[in-house]
Amino acid sequence: MIFVAGASGAIGSRLVPQLVERGHEVIGTFNSPGGAERVRALGAKPVKLDLLDASAVRKSVLGAQPDALSHQATALANASFSRNFDKTFAQTNRLRTEGTDALLAAAQEAGVRRFVAQSFASARYARAGGFVKSEDDPLDPAPLAATRESHAAMRHLDAAVTAAGGTILRYGGFYGADNDGLIEPVRKRQFPIVGDGAGVTSFIHLDDAAVATVLALELDRPGIYNIVDDEPAPVREWLPVMAEALGAKPPRHIPRWLARLFAGDAAVMLGTESRGASNAKAKRELGWTLRWPSWREGFAAVYGRSEAVAPIELRRKAA
Ligand SMILES: NC(=O)c1ccc[n+]([C@@H]2O[C@H](COP(=O)([O-])OP(=O)(O)OC[C@H]3O[C@@H](n4cnc5c(N)ncnc54)[C@H](OP(=O)(O)O)[C@@H]3O)[C@@H](O)[C@H]2O)c1
Repeated sequence: MIFVAGASGAIGSRLVPQLVERGHEVIGTFNSPGGAERVRALGAKPVKLDLLDASAVRKSVLGAQPDALSHQATALANASFSRNFDKTFAQTNRLRTEGTDALLAAAQEAGVRRFVAQSFASARYARAGGFVKSEDDPLDPAPLAATRESHAAMRHLDAAVTAAGGTILRYGGFYGADNDGLIEPVRKRQFPIVGDGAGVTSFIHLDDAAVATVLALELDRPGIYNIVDDEPAPVREWLPVMAEALGAKPPRHIPRWLARLFAGDAAVMLGTESRGASNAKAKRELGWTLRWPSWREGFAAVYGRSEAVAPIELRRKAA
């Protein structure tokens, strides 16, 4: 049996049905009201759980006695991105530190054999040398001030899980979610190409991310894997393609100094220096194949759908 913490979220809700289809029994946690029905409809037994309540975590995991556990909890559903990156990620950072520690302690006590946790790949690696990094390449040794706590939380997550014999999945930027935070700014031309637009992003379609997660849960071997597509790409390449798929006007170009003034250092870094990641290890060791090897086709399929193209307020009203 597999325990999915964060089953009601963007990745959890793709992961649970795939696990069920593979014949696994799944317990899926949610935290917000209304989550129980959502998780049940995905095919899992729903359990309400706040990962920041360590004694509740212990009780849930010991009660479930799962064979494997996946930590997929973040708190980004209503995130509004500002120049203070760490403020946006504050609750997610707690889930990645306190939440991870609570789950690991409970999993160890319950004798859980596999532990697979959600981490992040894009913009994590050192901003030097090549623009496409493997899992062995060093992480950014000097993250920008506004992102320091978020980098530290992910380092804690990666280190704690691997030290306990678990697996870390460094996902690319997800696309395919109904509440995708990029749609509105790109439609409104509020997401510009900064400077030369050379900062590289690695993306991953949520369905492909879920496939890799199933494989990692079923594999009896720990490790760190970049779960990204085949085509890490600079902002100047992918942003116009996304805008076109959304039926929006092409993105604006702005100089670095202006972006720094209005959006802060982190926005400039993401637009000009960020590194992407290679998926070679995940393909080799997990036997993973992608339905959407490039965001080029993936964006057209996801953002070209009528419901994704509708402004987010309209989609909320329709829901
Ligand atoms: N790699 C990436 O690019 C990446 C990673 C994560 C998210 N995102 C994006 O961010 C957006 C929001 O993500 P999302 O829809 O998955 O929402 P989210 O708010 O990030 O929630 C994710 C999961 O974590 C659970 N959760 C939140 N707080 C918790 C807590 N204190 N204790 C236990 N569980 C908790 C949520 O439960 P409830 O739903 O019940 O609150 C949900 O199951 C999506 O568009 C997604 O694609 C991107």
